Amino acid sequence: MRIGVLTGGGDAPGLNSAIRGIVFRAHKKGHEVIGILRGWRGLIEQQARPLSLDEVEEIHREGGTVILTSRTNPLKSEETAAKALEGFKALGLDGLIAIGGEDTLGACAKLAHKGLRAIGIPKTIDHDVPGTEFTIGFDTAIEIVTEALDRLVTTAKSHERVIVVEIMGRHAGWMALFGGLAGGAHFIVIPEQKVDVDEIIASIRRRFEAGKRYALVAVAEGVTFFAPKASDEVIDEFGHVKVGGVAEYIANAIKKAGFEARHVVLGHLQRGGSPSVRDRLIPMLLGVKAVELVEKGEFGKMVTIRGEQIITVPLDVVTEGIRAVPPELYEIAKAFFA
Ligand code: F6P
Repeated sequence: MRIGVLTGGGDAPGLNSAIRGIVFRAHKKGHEVIGILRGWRGLIEQQARPLSLDEVEEIHREGGTVILTSRTNPLKSEETAAKALEGFKALGLDGLIAIGGEDTLGACAKLAHKGLRAIGIPKTIDHDVPGTEFTIGFDTAIEIVTEALDRLVTTAKSHERVIVVEIMGRHAGWMALFGGLAGGAHFIVIPEQKVDVDEIIASIRRRFEAGKRYALVAVAEGVTFFAPKASDEVIDEFGHVKVGGVAEYIANAIKKAGFEARHVVLGHLQRGGSPSVRDRLIPMLLGVKAVELVEKGEFGKMVTIRGEQIITVPLDVVTEGIRAVPPELYEIAKAFFA
């Protein structure tokens, strides 16, 4: 068999581990693996190259993706969709494994309905893909957020300051919530739960009055209810607008209330570097399982884990919108706010 693999959307630590899993299993069974370069763009433009066992041997240690990525939307037009389907045939593929978030896999699900023989593997540091509680890169990203907060707290403490940390995640608050909790943030703001800036300030005031004269505020970049800077500028082919600027807005409000405050935008630091153990191990297992599904001709599915079991779900679930943080979880997190 000739199996194609592509990675689409933002890169994430652990993508290479999934590729390694695919190539190892495929080669064991005598299949060939073709790396489609730059996500869907590679399928549309037929940019691809074979992946050897030798090449992937050590890649589970590395962040990023050895087959590159892009935010190309194959469903941008009828023509690009047709070209993607043509590319699959022209490259002589028997099956395609697409690794990506809701954009990449959503497009994959729709192309599957047009006849693309595809399997999906969930990836995104944002952790917001419906139908799965695992997405490649999230575990590493929240480690990075946690480490950043560990570092920021010592400087906040020394200067008796408030530091507001802006955390990626687009329209979901998973990274800010989990990274914020693990890093000991004293207040967390996520897009799913509207709060008033006065609530944040009141909380900080309580803390300072109780003698703790420093605070960390974790805020998800996708928070737009303070309406600071959410621009209408469309940044990619999937129609996403630029998010961010909210940490600066909150820090300014805190300053106006009489505290010394700074803000930090973690940005792409959260996507770089080596994957965590979980982001090495699970993607490798999912890669192996995805090849098994291609062998069986079971297309239109996404592979993921539930507990310690590898499971499959219909790929169509990814088109249901984003998986948001449930309100109950935020309620529980409030136990740690000042
Ligand atoms: O979807 C992953 C993500 O890192 C989001 O958290 C973030 O908003 C976006 O990608 C950034 O996109 P880009 O890398 O294109 O700037």
